[in-house]
Amino acid sequence: MADSMTPKMKAPQAPSVRLARKTQSLDILYAVATSLSQPGSLEQVLDGFLDTFIELVDARAASVRVAAGDGGTRIVAQRGLAPEVVERDRQMPAGACPCSRAVAEGQLQRQRGSAACAALIGRPMLERDCVELVAVPAQYQDRMLGVYNLFLDRPLSAMGEDMPDLLISVGRHLGLAIEKARLESEARRVAIMEERAIIGNELHDSLAQSLIGMRLQVKLLGEYLARKDFGRAQYETGRLRRAVAQANDDVRELLTNYRLKIGEGGLAQNLDALVERFQRDTGIAVFFQNECPVLDLAPAQEIQLFYIIQEALTNIRKHSDAHNVRVLLNSQDDLVTVLIEDDGLGMTESADAAAGAHAGLAIMRERTERLQGQIVIESEPGEGTRIVLLFNTPSR
Ligand SMILES: Nc1ncnc2c1ncn2[C@@H]1O[C@H](COP(=O)(O)OP(=O)(O)O)[C@@H](O)[C@H]1O
Ligand SMILES: [Mg+2]
Repeated sequence: MADSMTPKMKAPQAPSVRLARKTQSLDILYAVATSLSQPGSLEQVLDGFLDTFIELVDARAASVRVAAGDGGTRIVAQRGLAPEVVERDRQMPAGACPCSRAVAEGQLQRQRGSAACAALIGRPMLERDCVELVAVPAQYQDRMLGVYNLFLDRPLSAMGEDMPDLLISVGRHLGLAIEKARLESEARRVAIMEERAIIGNELHDSLAQSLIGMRLQVKLLGEYLARKDFGRAQYETGRLRRAVAQANDDVRELLTNYRLKIGEGGLAQNLDALVERFQRDTGIAVFFQNECPVLDLAPAQEIQLFYIIQEALTNIRKHSDAHNVRVLLNSQDDLVTVLIEDDGLGMTESADAAAGAHAGLAIMRERTERLQGQIVIESEPGEGTRIVLLFNTPSR
């Protein structure tokens, strides 16, 4: 009876309107896919995504949440929510909210306004409440990796019949981006573990070896003293003192090098910090020319490259007496070129060859092999030293 008075049937859509809507959906999907495939950390990518997406669907606020182990979700990016709200939200235990439901059921959830969420976190989500809150799963294959929310000023049903499907598709793109970030951080963890093994080897080569030597010298010293052979004892004491000083230098060098860890900030930022520190510590001017601030390297490659440059700079500090250093980073297509050059003393002919006692250049070559690259070290006495490293980025 009521139906006949308030007709609910929509007027049939003209084909041109439907087509326009379809085109618009595709545009949105394309913009979202582009924003999600930008390089950067997950947070940066999600910020870019929200900036693009919130405008496209005209939402007042939006957030992205990743699934946490406890069945709940954790907010990782948002637009339009007050900091206190985000803070409260972070402390909230996993609840039976639409976000958790979207993740558990893998389906789009909507609710009128955000009062239910406000009751959970103990304060209003928005100054003036929205009309509809939508939670859409972020799905990768058949796994629910998270969810995104839209705080809308008009109900989804008023936004065209394609909208729910479109939002689900966007959720799949988001799921892919979250999965990619997870894999990258896993690869970074593995790379760091491998790096620890290298550090272990370096410690073994430098320190463990000299400790074995010193233990022998102490034994000898004891024997000479027992025999009251003070001449030999004195000689052995001198050797021991020099060995201790050398070991001390080695450990200091290892510590300074490895304390400057590769931070989260990505290679460009870490190299900036490395160069800045080098200039501050040595007073040697460095001309750092980074012609590819966004290098899409695998985490393991970043680590190798970082430590190669670090060893080159350490050598310049220790051996070169240089006044100027140039570090150049360049990439063309998949080929990365790195140049480290100083105007110092240069290497004596035997220096590179006598690498047995000095692990630095050898490890640099080993790291180059891990990069499947090539390294050329050019140096003449009095002519400075130039290191050129070439390698390919992983092909995509
Ligand atoms: N930039 C440089 N300028 C002058 N000499 C260098 C430079 N880099 C390396 N060398 C020489 O090459 C040798 C081997 O270097 P390396 O293998 O790193 O060992 P270490 O730094 O422990 O001496 C150094 O002892 C030094 O004589
Ligand atoms: Mg060295």
